[in-house]
Amino acid sequence: MRVSGAHYRTIWPTSTGAVRVIDQSRLPFEFTTVDLETLDDAASAIRAMVVRGAPLIGATAAYGLALAARRDASDARLDEAAQTLQATRPTAHNLVWALERMRRALAAVPEAERAEAAYAEAARLCDEDAERCRSIGLEGLELIRRRAESAARPVNVLTHCNAGWLACVDWGTALAPVYAAHDAGIAVHVWVDETRPRNQGAALTAFELAAHGVPHTVIADNLGGHLMQRGRVDLVIVGSDRTTAAGDVCNKVGTYLKALAARDNDVPFYAALPASTIDWTLDRGEDIPIEERPAVELTHVTGRTAGGATETVRVVPETSPALNLAFDVTPARLVTALITERGICAASRTGLRSLYPDRPMPRSIAAARP
Ligand code: MRU
Repeated sequence: MRVSGAHYRTIWPTSTGAVRVIDQSRLPFEFTTVDLETLDDAASAIRAMVVRGAPLIGATAAYGLALAARRDASDARLDEAAQTLQATRPTAHNLVWALERMRRALAAVPEAERAEAAYAEAARLCDEDAERCRSIGLEGLELIRRRAESAARPVNVLTHCNAGWLACVDWGTALAPVYAAHDAGIAVHVWVDETRPRNQGAALTAFELAAHGVPHTVIADNLGGHLMQRGRVDLVIVGSDRTTAAGDVCNKVGTYLKALAARDNDVPFYAALPASTIDWTLDRGEDIPIEERPAVELTHVTGRTAGGATETVRVVPETSPALNLAFDVTPARLVTALITERGICAASRTGLRSLYPDRPMPRSIAAARP
């Protein structure tokens, strides 16, 4: 996508073998990049959320393995590196998926050639991610177009967290249909949930949409239900960090409450995700690991002062404990449909299998079938 007229992806290798990423911890006030030189740099960037968003976490892990391989490409070292990367953030399935793909691709490659092969495979993974997200955009575009045909005003889309190009390699998941609609000349407006505690909506989604010229309004997380009651939301589109084989959608905490409000107000609720987010080994949303992050992300808020300094201030009494669970699960029954790179399907085992007949069924589901 474009920032100040230049085309950017979120991650790319440099000519010296480093991996350059946009430093998302500094957005929206500073657009800077940082070079990852080692496996530890890649792991720290994921952990500290310099890079974040499920598809980008996967892409960074893939390059993290390449960075490890250029120092030591032995099986033992790559196993250890994969474990280090996998331990960074537990919820996004794309992380596990990317590491498994890299290990499979490198298994048969002689040790001396592995580093080069790892960079090539990570680059392929990134290209495919961008292409999958572009396709998600085209699939979701039709939903927005249909809505626009029956509306005399811009289509109002509500989204939660950041599931745009910053969360992926390019295009985004939930925001890809919005960009496709905007680029096709359809009038679209986005309600952007601020997304406490880390404010990915207010900081990142708003930044992206502004950079692309898409009309949007940042709202407090708690406003969505009221806007839906007043008919001011036409559809909700969110991303996903892990979706089960039965269509339960795990996404940034607060997504479930939006789905409940959407159901109560007959507002369609869509989750947009590539195949790499689907965990075919799980059929129950309750089994998805939910990341607990440091309480300081909740007790403190970081922002920019009028004088241009970045400051972090405490907003919770010193003596109050805080619980910072980063994701929640929206049961499939509350999801109108899933928007994938292969098409739109019901959030169910049957729906997903109609688009992905080639994927193995989880043992528990297979056993339950006659
Ligand atoms: O904690 P984050 O910022 O990595 O969480 C990101 C999200 O929850 C996104 O909605 C998700 O990754 C969607 S995929 C683009």
